[in-house]
Amino acid sequence: MTQTLRCALVGYGFIAGKGHAPVYAERAVAEKDFEIVAIVDSNEARRAAARQDFPKARIYSDHTEMLTAEAGRIDFVDITTPPYAHAAIAHAALDRGLHVLCEKPIAVSPEEAVSLAEHARAARRVFFPCHNYKHAPVIKTVRSLIESGSIGRVHLVTLQTFRTTHARGVADWRPDWRRERRYSGGGIAMDHGSHTLYLAFEWLGSHPVSVSAKAHTLGDYDTEDNFSCTLTFPNGIATAQLTWTAGARKVMYTIHGEYGAITVDDDQVQLLVRDDLVGTRPDLARRAGVQSVPSHWMDASHKEWFGSLLDKFKIAIGSHDYVGADARDAIECVKVISAAYLSASLSSREVAVVDARPPARENGARTNGHHRAAPSRP
Ligand SMILES: NC(=O)c1ccc[n+]([C@@H]2O[C@H](COP(=O)([O-])OP(=O)(O)OC[C@H]3O[C@@H](n4cnc5c(N)ncnc54)[C@H](O)[C@@H]3O)[C@@H](O)[C@H]2O)c1
Repeated sequence: MTQTLRCALVGYGFIAGKGHAPVYAERAVAEKDFEIVAIVDSNEARRAAARQDFPKARIYSDHTEMLTAEAGRIDFVDITTPPYAHAAIAHAALDRGLHVLCEKPIAVSPEEAVSLAEHARAARRVFFPCHNYKHAPVIKTVRSLIESGSIGRVHLVTLQTFRTTHARGVADWRPDWRRERRYSGGGIAMDHGSHTLYLAFEWLGSHPVSVSAKAHTLGDYDTEDNFSCTLTFPNGIATAQLTWTAGARKVMYTIHGEYGAITVDDDQVQLLVRDDLVGTRPDLARRAGVQSVPSHWMDASHKEWFGSLLDKFKIAIGSHDYVGADARDAIECVKVISAAYLSASLSSREVAVVDARPPARENGARTNGHHRAAPSRP
């Protein structure tokens, strides 16, 4: 018999209401493996929306109150607040012996990110990030092309994300929180950068050692709306361009290897074989071509990808994989974003992505670590 994992959703805004909750509702009926039993939101209008959507769920205005009242009645929290609150809510849940599913970015500083992993290991509970782009059908197609050796070893990746505006949160709270650093922790690099980075990590099969970045703010806000960077990996290079001021909504990725390249333009995936290999490697040439892989890119809730992510979360719980590869990538994402911001503030000087030191614990208390991103050159 399937065990039903009982969820407390914390933050009932756009991604929770449109991207996560409908999938939990479907799973509660079909697979019976997930069920929302509690919902927290600090905003009264959003609590009313939660009550309407999930009449049987217990509704709270504060996660601490919920964790106390729900002791023994929930298995995990799904954190869907803006980033400023992620770490505090995750630590509180881990303290209660709960698993944690957390929207990206998992935290707004490397110290916070590392402390979450340490806490999850110590508590023997799963900490799992919502790296949902890994579950897009088009990205799964790229994965299988790379894994089948179609382009050989990858050494260069370019990633472009075009958005015509910053994503807006629900109207009832602060729809423009992504432009307020105290809630977001940064602009498009903090908001969208994780997706770009964990895809680059996967395709290059490693984590970057240094970054050089530029951040611009074209609008009247305290977070950047344009960001570009070059990442140096042990085995290659990635460049990224992220913008909230584009003329169209689109993702475009290119992945280059020994034998050829893969290009992604929203749903379209193209496999190219190097000209000089077409004659000698008919096995590769036969695979070349374009395919369309419907991936619902225009639906910003990415509801279609969430079920596949939940499957992985469930496997991590079942296999006691407390801080798995996705969680380790999530920590690297925050470290790289932090190093990139430092680089941007130093006129794009190359900055090392320094390994974060595990946080010290004294008398069971968590303490902050040290600054992780240091200039690679004086
Ligand atoms: N993975 C993705 O593709 C994707 C897409 C959109 C958003 N997100 C992420 O989801 C998170 C939320 O984004 P959103 O667009 O849904 O924002 P939103 O503004 O629509 O929703 C946030 C909700 O959290 C509530 N809230 C704020 N602080 C709270 C607190 N301390 N305790 C309880 N509730 C609180 C607000 O009242 C609001 O209802 C962010 O981390 C964002 O990066 C991820």
